Amino acid sequence: MALDISTMFTGIRFENPFLLSSAPPTESESNILRAFDAGWAGVVTKTIGLHPVVNVAGPKTMFLRADADSPRLSMKKRPGSALHSSWNWELISDKTLDWWIPKLGRIKQAFPGRVLVASIMAGSGNDTELRHWQTLAQACQDQGCDALELNLSCPHMDRQDMGSNLGKDTELVSIVTKVVKEVARVPVWAKLTPSTTDIVIEARGAFLGGADAISSSNTFTSLPLIDAETLEFEVHVDGFVSTGGLGGPAILPLSLAKISQLTQAFPDKSFSGIGGISMFEHALSYFLLGCGTVQICTAAMLDHAIGPSVIKGLLSGMQAFLDRHAEKGWHSLDDIRGLRRDRIVAHSEITRPDAKEYFGGKDAPEGYAAADAASKASA
Ligand SMILES: Cc1cc2nc3c(=O)[nH]c(=O)nc-3n(C[C@H](O)[C@H](O)[C@H](O)COP(=O)(O)O)c2cc1C
Repeated sequence: MALDISTMFTGIRFENPFLLSSAPPTESESNILRAFDAGWAGVVTKTIGLHPVVNVAGPKTMFLRADADSPRLSMKKRPGSALHSSWNWELISDKTLDWWIPKLGRIKQAFPGRVLVASIMAGSGNDTELRHWQTLAQACQDQGCDALELNLSCPHMDRQDMGSNLGKDTELVSIVTKVVKEVARVPVWAKLTPSTTDIVIEARGAFLGGADAISSSNTFTSLPLIDAETLEFEVHVDGFVSTGGLGGPAILPLSLAKISQLTQAFPDKSFSGIGGISMFEHALSYFLLGCGTVQICTAAMLDHAIGPSVIKGLLSGMQAFLDRHAEKGWHSLDDIRGLRRDRIVAHSEITRPDAKEYFGGKDAPEGYAAADAASKASA
C-alpha cells in the first residue's frame, strides 16, 4: 500500500514535497498541466514581470558534460559523457502578465488540489517599481495562486535594482518582501541568490520583511568555458558572452552548504531546497538539513521538458525510504526533517588524532587559559 507522503509547508498542503522550480518546465499552461498529470505536487511558474523582456539570439540554456575517462569538460555532445551542469542566460518569462492571468486561473481550476506558486519580479529603485510587486502579487493571487515566490535572485540582470543585484542588498530584500506582504493573502516565499558572502544576512532581511519561507538556491553566477581550438566561449553571440547561471549536479553540494547555513541560523523557519536534485537521495540531503519541500529544474528539463521520470523516481524513492525505515518510527517527512542539521560543526570540533595539540589553528593557550583548554579537551 502506498504511504501518505503529503506534507504541510507554509500552511499549504502538498500531496508530496516535490515541486518544479521556476524555469522552462513551468513556462506555459500546457507544460504545467502535463507536470501535474505526471505527479508533481506543485509548480513555481516561470518568473512573471512587468518590464519588457527580450532574450539573446541563440540558445538560452546549454549543458556541460564530463567524460568518465578524462578530465575533459565540454558542452559538446558526445557518447559516454555525464551531465555536469546546466548553464543558462535566459531572462524571466517573455510573456506579459495579461498573457499569464487567464492561464493561472485555468490551471488552478483544472488542478485545485495541486499547488500553484507564482514567481514574480519587479525592481526596487522607486515607488513605481515597488507598486509593480504589489500589482503582480494581487493579480496572481486573484487567479487562485496558492503562494508567491519573490525572484530576488535572477543572476543575469543589468538593472541594479532587480534580480540578484537587488537580492544582494539585505535592506532592499526586506523592503520588497514587506511591500508584497502588505497586499498578500497567500504565503510569500523569498528566492535568494547564492552569490553573496553570507546568505544568512539576506535571509534575515527577508524574514524581517515577513517572508513565510526562503527558497534556495537560484543558479550560481558563472561563465561557459573557452574552447581551446577556436578560443571562443562555448556559448556566445557574435563572440560575446555575459555571466549566466550554473545549475544541475555541480551545484548540489554548493547549494546544500547554503541551506545548512540557513537552517542552522533559523531552525524554526521554512525552507524550500533547490539545486542539483534529480533523485530522491539528493532530495533527502535537503530534507535532513531541514527543508520542508524541494524544487527541481535541470533534471526535469532533460526529461521530456517537465520531468515525468524524475517525479516518478522521487515518489518511489521516498516511498521505499519510509518503508525501509518504518520500524524507526519514520512515517513522514516531518519525522526526518532536520535530523542531520546539527551535524555541521566548527572544523575544530571534528575529532582528530591528537585533539590536545590543535586549538582551531591558533597558538597553544598559556597560563590559566591552558588549564581551561585542558579541562575542555578531557571533558
Ligand atoms: C533555463 C533556466 C531558466 C531559469 N529561469 C528562472 C526564472 O525565471 N526564475 C527563477 O526564479 N529561477 C529560474 N531558474 C533557476 C531554477 O529555478 C533553479 O533555481 C536552478 O536551475 C537550480 O536548480 P537545478 O539545479 O535543479 O537546475 C532558471 C534555470 C534555468 C536552467
